Amino acid sequence: MKTEKSAQDSCMIIARIMLPEDANPAGIVHGGVIMKEIDNAAGVAAVRHTRKICVTASIDRLDFHKPAFIGNLLTVKAGINMTGKTSMEIGARVETEDLLTGVKTHLASAYLTFVALGKDHRPVGVPPLKLLTKEDIRRNREALARKKLRLSEKRKESECQLDTSKC
Ligand SMILES: CC(C)(COP(=O)(O)OP(=O)(O)OC[C@H]1O[C@@H](n2cnc3c(N)ncnc32)[C@H](O)[C@@H]1OP(=O)(O)O)[C@@H](O)C(=O)NCCC(=O)NCCS
Repeated sequence: MKTEKSAQDSCMIIARIMLPEDANPAGIVHGGVIMKEIDNAAGVAAVRHTRKICVTASIDRLDFHKPAFIGNLLTVKAGINMTGKTSMEIGARVETEDLLTGVKTHLASAYLTFVALGKDHRPVGVPPLKLLTKEDIRRNREALARKKLRLSEKRKESECQLDTSKC
């Protein structure tokens, strides 16, 4: 039986100043740059939780509510919301800080599923998540609902591919 770990044990925060190479000619940061930072932060949380190689299985819909600009400090906070048998849902919150004014803006949030792999690169079991706070319990409940939805969408897609009359 693997030892339980809390979200606090693996929580990861990445912070990086946005530079000209991160942005378009108007000085607005590329969405792909932010996506990479989200994937990096979530990946570290997944590896910290499992101490295994982890791969991104999926990223849910990602909306950018506000732009980030050159010179902003981009922060991604990633934490485990839920563990399954071999997979984990990780929530990531992206904020920017205008360093001259101190104003912080919530840019985006994303939910990623990571799967832990063994030496044979097949999925392996992950430690269960220990829920310590009310927030942990809420996040876990919402993540379980999202997992159910994800699996039913995946099933529907597979059925569609086999029989186009079903979609
Ligand atoms: C992710 C991957 C390992 C899953 O392998 P698989 O053979 O489909 O594994 P399984 O069907 O046994 O599923 C394993 C777990 O992954 C979850 N899973 C698989 N595909 C998923 C998807 N698209 N979205 C969310 N979860 C997924 C399953 O629900 C299951 O979770 P559980 O064990 O906690 O119940 C495989 O699809 C893969 O290697 N994909 C490429 C990953 C990659 O290269 N990412 C980019 C670079 S990091």
